[in-house]
Amino acid sequence: VPVATQTALPADPHSYSRPTEVQVKHLALDVSVDFSRKQIAGTARLDIEHRTSATKLVLDTRDLTINSVRLDDGSNATWKLGTATGTFGAPLEIDIRPATRSVSVDYASSPSAGALQWLDPILTAGKKSPFLLSQSQSILARTWVPIQDTPSVRFTYDATIRVPKDLLALMSAENPTQKNADGVYRFRMPQPIPSYLLALTVGDLVFKPLGPISGVYAEREVIDLAASEFVDLPRMIAATEETYGPYRWGRYDLLVLPPSFPFGGMENPRLSFLTPTILAGDRSLVSVVTHELAHSWSGNLVTNATWNEFWLNEGFTTYIEHRIAEKLYGVDYAEMLWGLGRTHFAREITEVEPKYQTLKVDLTGVDPDEVSNELPYNKGSHLLRLIEQTVGRKAFDAYLRGYFDRFAFKPMTTEIFLADLRSNLLSRFPGSETKIGLDEWIYKPGMPANTPAARSNAFAEVERHADAFIAGGPATAIDASKWSTHEYVHFAQRLPATLGAVRMAELDEHLKLTNRGNYEILQWWLEKAIQNDYRAADPAIERFLTSQGRRKFLMAIYKALIVTPRGRDLALRIYENARPSYHPVSQGTIDEILSYKVAPAK
Ligand code: BES
Ligand code: ZN
Repeated sequence: VPVATQTALPADPHSYSRPTEVQVKHLALDVSVDFSRKQIAGTARLDIEHRTSATKLVLDTRDLTINSVRLDDGSNATWKLGTATGTFGAPLEIDIRPATRSVSVDYASSPSAGALQWLDPILTAGKKSPFLLSQSQSILARTWVPIQDTPSVRFTYDATIRVPKDLLALMSAENPTQKNADGVYRFRMPQPIPSYLLALTVGDLVFKPLGPISGVYAEREVIDLAASEFVDLPRMIAATEETYGPYRWGRYDLLVLPPSFPFGGMENPRLSFLTPTILAGDRSLVSVVTHELAHSWSGNLVTNATWNEFWLNEGFTTYIEHRIAEKLYGVDYAEMLWGLGRTHFAREITEVEPKYQTLKVDLTGVDPDEVSNELPYNKGSHLLRLIEQTVGRKAFDAYLRGYFDRFAFKPMTTEIFLADLRSNLLSRFPGSETKIGLDEWIYKPGMPANTPAARSNAFAEVERHADAFIAGGPATAIDASKWSTHEYVHFAQRLPATLGAVRMAELDEHLKLTNRGNYEILQWWLEKAIQNDYRAADPAIERFLTSQGRRKFLMAIYKALIVTPRGRDLALRIYENARPSYHPVSQGTIDEILSYKVAPAK
C-alpha cells in the first residue's frame, strides 16, 4: 500500500538553507589541499534547481573565506555573508536569476575548520608524511565546502583534488587504488548523497583487495593487519543484501585512518572510515564494520531528514548490525551484542537528560554533536527488535526490505516511518501497535517495560564469575580461558566502584587487564580502575589517552577522572599535552568536559 509522503518536510533547524525554494543538485569541486597553510582552497560550482521564483540561493558556511561568486552567465553575483554563530556558521546569500543554472563560489577553508584534522607526520603510522582527514557529520561539511548542509538535500558530485605529489587522495566516491605522478585526483559520485557524507582524506595510503567489490586502504604499516581483520567483509555484504536488498553504491571499500580519527567508524558512501583501534588482531571488534556497512541501507539510502530524526539512521543501523552478526557468527554471538546494547540503554536512562531520552528529539538551537550519546542507537534498535518479535521475523524482514525500496535516496521522518509502518505492516497484525506501545517508545523518555531481553549463556556464565568475585571469592577462580572481547567487556562493566585497589590488583594479576592492547576492554577496565582508585593503572590511562583520539573512549576516561581532585589534575596534565593530537570534534567535547579554556594566541 503506497503511503502519501508528499507532506512537506520539516524545516531543518541546523541549516540556513532553504531547499524548498532552490535546491542544489550537483556539486563540482575543484580545490587544492595545502598542508603548509592547513587550507583547502578553490571553487565549488553548485548546479541548482528552482522550485519557486525565489531570487536567493542560501548556502551554509562556517569559518570559510569567500573570495567571489560567479553565475553561469559569467557575471559576478552579488552576495552577502550573514552574521556568524560558532556552531552553525554564517549563511551565504547569493542573488540569482530565474535563468541561473549554477553558481561558482571561490573560497578557502580556515586552518581551524571543524571537519578537518591536519596531522603532522608523527601522528601517522609511517611518521614520514602528513595526513588530512575529514569528518562532516553532523554539521561540519560547511567548514570545508559551501553547501546546503542539511541531510534533507541530496546531490551528486564530482571533484578535482590537487594534493602533494607523494600522497593519495580518497573521497566518498569512485576512488583510485594507487598514487599517480602529478597529485591531481578526479572523483565522481553518481549517486545523490546528503552533505554530511562528503568526505576527503589525503595521506600515504596503499590498497589491498578483499573481494570482488571490496578492499581496504591503510598506511603500509597496518595494511596486512587490516586486511586480515576484515576478511569477512564480502560475506557481510552478501548477508546484508540477502535480507535488505541490493547494495546500490557500486564498490564498498574500507579506510583505516590514523588513531586520531574521532569515531569508531563513519559510513562515508563507498568508503567507510574506520579507527585503527578496532584492529584487535582477533576480529573481535568487526561489528563496527558491520555497522558502517549497514548504513549503506539505513542512513545513506533512507536518510534522516534532520538531526531530530537521528534514531532513524542509528537505531535501524544498530538493529541491522546485530542481524548481520547473527547470520555470520550465530545467535549466541548476536545475543552478546544485544546484551551489551541493553546494558548501555539501561545506563543511558540514568545519565541522559529526559528530554533527550525520546527517540524523536528537538535539537533546535543545539549542536547535534553536543548531545552525543548512544541512546538513539540502543533504544531505536530495541524498538525494532520488539516489532520483529511482535509480528514475527519473516513479516518484519519483508517490511524492512520494502521500506528501503520505497524510500531509497529519500529523506525520512519519524512520522513518515510510522505511517508507512502502520499501513504496510502493523495493520495486518491487529492489536500489535498497542502491544508494542509505539507512541511511548517514540515520544516518551525512559526504558519501556517491554524492552526485549537478551539471552546469552556466555554472559550468564560471566555474571556468575563476576558475582562470586564481587562477593569475596578469589580472582583465581575466574575461568576466562574462553572469553572473547565481549565477555571481558561485560565482566568489567559489572564490577562495582567499591571494590578497592587491593581487589582490583588481584583481578589484574589474574586477568592481566591493564596491559591489554584491546581498546574496547581497556575503556571499561580503566574506568573501573579510576573509580576504585587503582593507581597502578595510571601509566595505562595516560597511554590510552595519548595513543588514540576516538571521542567515545576519551569521553569515558576523562569523565571518570574528573570526579576526584587527583583524577582531575591527572586529566588536565594529560590533556594539555594530548589535545593538539586530537581531531577538532574530540577537542570540542573534551574541552567541555574539563571546562578547558584554550590559551588566547599571543
Ligand atoms: N554515523 C556514526 C558516527 C557519527 C555519529 C558521527 C554522530 C557524527 C555524529 C557512525 O555510524 C557510528 O555510529 N559510529 C560508532 C560505531 C558503532 C559501532 C556504534 C562509533 O563511532 O562509535
Ligand atoms: Zn552509525
